[in-house]
Amino acid sequence: MKRTVGAHAGAAKSVAQSDSMPGEKAAGPAFSALVVKWQKQHGRHALPWQNTRDAYRIWLSEIMLQQTQVAAVIPYYQRFLLRFPDIASLAAAPAEDVMAHWSGLGYYSRARNLHRCAQRICTEYGGIFPADTSLLADLPGIGRSTAAAISAFAYSTRAAILDGNVKRVFCRVFGIDGYPGEKKVEEVLWRRAEALMPSDEVEAYTQGLMDLGATLCTRSRPSCAACPLAQCCTAFATDRVEQLPVRKPKKTIPEKHAAMLVIADRNQVLLEQRPDIGIWGGLLSLPELDRLAGGTEDGSDTAPLETVIARAIAPFGRLASYERLQPFSHGFTHFKLHVSPYRITIASRLDLAGQINHVWYDIDRLAQAPLPAPVKKLLLAVFREADLLADCV
Ligand code: ADE
Repeated sequence: MKRTVGAHAGAAKSVAQSDSMPGEKAAGPAFSALVVKWQKQHGRHALPWQNTRDAYRIWLSEIMLQQTQVAAVIPYYQRFLLRFPDIASLAAAPAEDVMAHWSGLGYYSRARNLHRCAQRICTEYGGIFPADTSLLADLPGIGRSTAAAISAFAYSTRAAILDGNVKRVFCRVFGIDGYPGEKKVEEVLWRRAEALMPSDEVEAYTQGLMDLGATLCTRSRPSCAACPLAQCCTAFATDRVEQLPVRKPKKTIPEKHAAMLVIADRNQVLLEQRPDIGIWGGLLSLPELDRLAGGTEDGSDTAPLETVIARAIAPFGRLASYERLQPFSHGFTHFKLHVSPYRITIASRLDLAGQINHVWYDIDRLAQAPLPAPVKKLLLAVFREADLLADCV
């Protein structure tokens, strides 16, 4: 197959030829020069977290960008900064407020760690992010690659990054076989990343690797014709761009089921604080039948559904009626959750004394509540239909 590639052939050739381990050192300058040159001409220069040396803003963006695409992050990043303009305001904020500003972005442990990290930066470092990557990597939510990115962008520290996009670029360019999530393969990739670091222009190089991975060397349908590394790319030369990086060995994804109860009374809905650990940790959510009933997942409770619901909600009020709502499913990284929602009407609300994990929440505040996205969507649809939200969202 004849391929056309960018105008970098001459410079790139020596990279491919000299770049088998242990010749990495020789390859480094040519490789990084190609990345830096391309970044300056074709990379991204106007993202909201660029053109600043403010480590707080850079850190926030890097945490939000873990597992989340740029387009999804931008509005969250901007809203977050309006509410928490600096590390002190974030450290001092109530956890609920932080979670509410993360609501919908997913991977909520990031928000809990972000809050803890802000508090540690304020108490241990006087509100200033350290430049030392090993000190940064010791803070909650900051791994080795994120520490390197923060330090490179804020302080020009010469430190190697290796996020998912960069792993893909390296696996293709250097023809690295093996699943990159595997420890041994990851070690090989880190050695590459370290060896290829240029001695200067660290910001352009770091941003260039990110930009290449996100815009050209994409998982599917990569733009090899425009890639500055195509001439030295092993995957391109051997027609394995589609095959590299090696995909995660397939496992069947477990499926879980939850019956969620929408218990509304007097313009309020009953919400439950999720435990810190597990899915949606730290967020509010809907009470779930199994959790209220003390766990009947094995199906051992053979009573009619009405009786099971009446028993489960007894601490909150007497069941008047229930209605099955439209079921939906939500995919997580490790399992798929099938939700069967029920709308519950109670005849008499009881005092919540002793129910520390439950709260009656004003329906007209739901749009801003720290709720998981699919639960918020369900509640807004239910109450919009009932016209309780008509004026507030
Ligand atoms: N992904 C991770 N960090 C990023 C950054 N600083 N810019 C764009 N995408 C990124």
